[in-house]
Amino acid sequence: MISTVLGIESSCDETAASVVKEGKYMLSNVVSSQVATHEKFGGVVPEIASRKHIESIIPVIEQAVSKAGCRLSEIDAIAVTQGPGLIGSLMVGLSVAKALSFSLDKPFVGVNHIEAHTCAVHIEHQVPFPFIALVVSGGHTSIYLVNDFTEYVLIGKTRDDAAGEAFDKAARILGLGYPGGAKIDTLARKGNPEKIKFPRPFMDRESFDFSYSGLKTSLLYYVKKNPITSKQEMHDICASYQEAIVDTLVNKTVSATKYYNIKNVVICGGVACNSRLREVSKEIFKKENINLFIPSPQLCTDNAAMVASLGYFRLKKGLESSLDVEAFSTISN
Ligand code: KG4
Ligand code: ZN
Repeated sequence: MISTVLGIESSCDETAASVVKEGKYMLSNVVSSQVATHEKFGGVVPEIASRKHIESIIPVIEQAVSKAGCRLSEIDAIAVTQGPGLIGSLMVGLSVAKALSFSLDKPFVGVNHIEAHTCAVHIEHQVPFPFIALVVSGGHTSIYLVNDFTEYVLIGKTRDDAAGEAFDKAARILGLGYPGGAKIDTLARKGNPEKIKFPRPFMDRESFDFSYSGLKTSLLYYVKKNPITSKQEMHDICASYQEAIVDTLVNKTVSATKYYNIKNVVICGGVACNSRLREVSKEIFKKENINLFIPSPQLCTDNAAMVASLGYFRLKKGLESSLDVEAFSTISN
């Protein structure tokens, strides 16, 4: 019987490994971030990311296993992010996971990174099914109807930029550096979110899709026309821009709960660290009488505990992967 799963994550710029028991009990969670390396380039450089993963992956796995108080031979199965993500980065984690599975003679499962973000919630909460999941990260903004630990129906997604990408691109326009989400979040706390009326794209459409590229362009035009001359102006721009993102995310999620008549919502992914998104969603879903679950920040950003958790639930259903599966950079649906 499978109980203890080693999760491995290397889809972008974090090398991570974690040991999780029964999909819920996190025994260790090690994340080695490459942010300092990519910061000077203003974004993740794929070639550098792959090389850094190669350097870090074995020490990170060793640490995760030792922090869990076990030996590799005591792990029951290996789960790894198969995609979507940067192909060279994914291949590092996938190759190591396959090698471990083969050499230890343990089951192996490749998982979808976006679905895995949703699974982070099971480590801290018992969420009743079905639930609506809003997955907001640097690469994805998607709404799923989740019927079971392994059954995901994609009901909405971004048509262009992801919410995290909208934060990161705005931070670049404002000269705040990379990654921008947390910086805008901090500056926005002293700003007036009503000061500038940035557009709320797609809000009027009868779909659960998002679009953020127009919002970023309107910020670009705004600062070209109105050069920033004071700290307060910067605070107000950050707060107003952030409000436009939060507003669309929360509104679309509320509409999805109404359309599908669902009483439970999970918000996850790196952007779920955003303090304004956490605050507004708490308030609105309370008013709507809907249970809201958001993982703690360390489980919102990329980690391998979420990978181990989804891997466990897939393996429990017999959804083992064969050793010839390949990494995928995007999803077709
Ligand atoms: O989930 P994640 O770690 O990686 C991906 O799968 O993309 O998400 C990273 C994204 C970045 O775009 C980052 O700017 C954003 O999450 N982020 C935030 C905050 N913290 C991280 N965005 C808004 N507010 C935050 N506090
Ligand atoms: Zn992610």
